[in-house]
Amino acid sequence: MGSKSVKERAVFATKFGAIATTVGSAVGLGNIWRFPYEAGAHGGGAFMICYIAFVLLIGVPLLCAEFAMGRGTHSNIFGAYRTLKPRQNWHIAGYIGIVASLMILSFYSVVAGWTVEYSISSAFGTLDFSSTATGHNQFLELTSGWRPVMWTVVFLLCNFAILIGGVTKGIERASNILMPLLFLLLAAFCVNSFTMPGFNEGITFLFNPDFSKITPSVLLGALGQAFFSLSLGLGCMMTYASYFNNRNRLGRTAVTTAFLDSMVAVLAGVIIFPAVFTFGISPEAGPTLVFEVLPYIFSRLAGGGVWSTLFFLLLFLASLTSTVSMSEISITYFCEEKGWSRAKATVVSSAIALVGGVLCALSFGPLGDFTVGGLTLFSLFDYVSSNICLPAGGLICSIFVGWFVDRRFLKSEFTDNGLFRFRMLKLLVFCLRWVCPIAIFLIFLNSVGAI
Ligand code: PFF
Repeated sequence: MGSKSVKERAVFATKFGAIATTVGSAVGLGNIWRFPYEAGAHGGGAFMICYIAFVLLIGVPLLCAEFAMGRGTHSNIFGAYRTLKPRQNWHIAGYIGIVASLMILSFYSVVAGWTVEYSISSAFGTLDFSSTATGHNQFLELTSGWRPVMWTVVFLLCNFAILIGGVTKGIERASNILMPLLFLLLAAFCVNSFTMPGFNEGITFLFNPDFSKITPSVLLGALGQAFFSLSLGLGCMMTYASYFNNRNRLGRTAVTTAFLDSMVAVLAGVIIFPAVFTFGISPEAGPTLVFEVLPYIFSRLAGGGVWSTLFFLLLFLASLTSTVSMSEISITYFCEEKGWSRAKATVVSSAIALVGGVLCALSFGPLGDFTVGGLTLFSLFDYVSSNICLPAGGLICSIFVGWFVDRRFLKSEFTDNGLFRFRMLKLLVFCLRWVCPIAIFLIFLNSVGAI
């Protein structure tokens, strides 16, 4: 049934639109919120170097693989595996993708809810930008109790409203404007970072790797971050590529997406860490780090409240372009595999995310003491989806495309049936056959202490 709706599938209207939408999915809280806190918790430079290596060696080849599968079969993850190898069970990867996407959607909506809280508080002047206010206490005040639940629900309702309208229209238009605007704003804040007393310390922390700090948990964290940030391993990029038209040069789109996505993460690091050292905040603060640090940064700018409102608003919108893409995974599954109407699929997916989101939001208040393996529900969902499910999905995809997909299929996808050249096919297949599976497998083994 996966390929039944091939002909009905829309395509992105323009090449720029397709790239902007893909980048829109990739760029979000993963770069601006998750990257700095993961890097801070895992030794800065050591994490950064592993992350960049994984983006290049695993992220780009897997993006290519997902793009080729999605565009070549015009299908969601289930249909893609099934079309390429009927009567085999590779599409099980799709179930991992659905579970991961709903878990991510749950905790992601909580953080996106914080962006709503922060933009509204900035606009109404209730966010204190004086450097004497402690970012931590302020964060606790704003996000304790039931407030984050309310904002999580508000965010999920916005997500729902967009989804019910379809993929290409609103999202394509929004991404075309939003992504460049977010880049500009980040670049401006980056320049401001140069003027901070803690600039050198922050930059050294982020870019000067201490190789002795590369531990199994740093490797697993960086791998999970690369997958999370590139929206890989769960079929999201596959689904988006199924909307690409034939003229899209998949190799270039993959490299452009990975480059822009990593740039945003690096920019976020360059914005956050000088401020962390300037204001004496611990880089290991965890998921709250960025929200604690940013108000201090805005306090140094003329018109801090305006900058802050604009920034959190853009971050909220960037989160929406990402949550819409992750919601598509379960929605297209229900529609194309189960034959449900889009409205029913959207309501059911959103309802599951709502329950997950509320539970995760309560992790910062009433459910704070409820832990599994020392992790609150929020952190558990984050850890399991990013560090286990996504790399596992990527492992299956790399083995599948590297070893089992006909080379002629790949060639025709990457050259548009011989219309243009693609010189990297051999290298790509080598990475998918050997580098990706071995690296992911070793990191998994390593992190359970087996080697
Ligand atoms: N890549 C997004 C980010 O960095 O914020 C998060 C994400 C989107 C993960 C879509 C997974 C996904 F399917």
